[in-house]
Amino acid sequence: MDKVAVYPGSFDPITNGHLDLLDRGLKIFDKIIVAIAKNPAKQPVFSFEERLRMIEESLRDHPLNDRLKVDAFQGLLVDYVGRVNARAILRGLRAISDFEYEFQMALMNRKLSNEIETLYLMTGMRWIYISSRIIKEVVMSGGCVSGLVPEPVEKMLAERLGPSIS
Ligand code: PNS
Repeated sequence: MDKVAVYPGSFDPITNGHLDLLDRGLKIFDKIIVAIAKNPAKQPVFSFEERLRMIEESLRDHPLNDRLKVDAFQGLLVDYVGRVNARAILRGLRAISDFEYEFQMALMNRKLSNEIETLYLMTGMRWIYISSRIIKEVVMSGGCVSGLVPEPVEKMLAERLGPSIS
């Protein structure tokens, strides 16, 4: 039986840190579903369709593309994980600052479903300081994020958030 994990997140937008985690996850799981959360409480910069397109374009040339799927979910993560017959949630950990939120989320998900385990992998050192939030902040202030996000994302970030030249 295939070992399937769900890698959930806002991915607003996907970064090279996320891609690094996918590569690490693929060493353990046969298949990973990148699941974009449609959270009505959050105001993402990119629409769900844009995030989906950015992830698909970023994964298009991935050598293990056939083991990756991009999807979206609304409502409880554990319900979605159950619907796709997975047993594991994959998340990345950067620094200590991530821990409290992730610990709370993992324990809440365990309370909601005892059948599903959350697996944390350490982000590669190269990406330890980046997040979707800081990437957007840098672009908004006219900074360069080349090499920190996939190329299609860099382009869309510049179009959406880059300072306009007038
Ligand atoms: O990239 P993010 O914003 O840190 O991802 C957070 C996400 C989407 C994984 C989390 O908010 C989530 O699972 N939302 C779905 C609602 C849910 O199941 N909440 C209970 C667990 S805290």
